[in-house]
Amino acid sequence: MSNATLVIRPAEEYDVPEVLRIERASFADPWSADSFLTSLELDRMRFLVAEERREGDANQAGDGMLLGYVIALVLAEEAEVADIAVSSDARRRGVGGLLLDAVTDELARRGVRSVYLEVRESNTAARALYESRAFRQVGRRRGYYQHPAEDALLLKREIEPG
Ligand SMILES: CC(C)(COP(=O)(O)OP(=O)(O)OC[C@H]1O[C@@H](n2cnc3c(N)ncnc32)[C@H](O)[C@@H]1OP(=O)(O)O)[C@@H](O)C(=O)NCCC(=O)NCCS
Repeated sequence: MSNATLVIRPAEEYDVPEVLRIERASFADPWSADSFLTSLELDRMRFLVAEERREGDANQAGDGMLLGYVIALVLAEEAEVADIAVSSDARRRGVGGLLLDAVTDELARRGVRSVYLEVRESNTAARALYESRAFRQVGRRRGYYQHPAEDALLLKREIEPG
């Protein structure tokens, strides 16, 4: 990542095609373009992207390469991480962790105290990421996922008000 800067910023409509590309490459049941567009509009959704800007790129949001995104849904003092993914060629470089940290900070500033999420039991990469960010298992949703059918683990993290 020499001469490159990673910027975490709110998503914009022009990010949606690249977000969709990463989403479709990451999940068997991907969100639709409409779901992402709606997430941009609703105040209770926080939608952040990670953009890598290299030296020589014009220094404007959207001129770099989109590496990943995270979406959280805020419901008063609780929130849910609804979607998170990193482009396959940019994984294990800390991008997912930075996205999760950034959205958690934002949730804390909004007064959220508990963050929940569901994860496929077999998704070792995501589970390791969440474990590294102090999420702990608080439940199991049997047969929650399709394609293939699988249980979801329900994870929770308590956060301090920001
Ligand atoms: C889960 C995902 C977002 C992680 O993104 P990432 O940018 O690769 O994660 P990071 O590089 O920030 O990893 C942070 C930590 O998580 C853990 N981790 C991440 N990927 C891992 C893997 N494949 N194996 C083991 N641990 C892993 C490690 O502890 C890692 O820290 P380290 O690299 O210092 O050891 C990414 O793998 C992804 O997009 N997967 C497909 C979509 C998905 O499953 N989303 C989650 C749905 S619940």
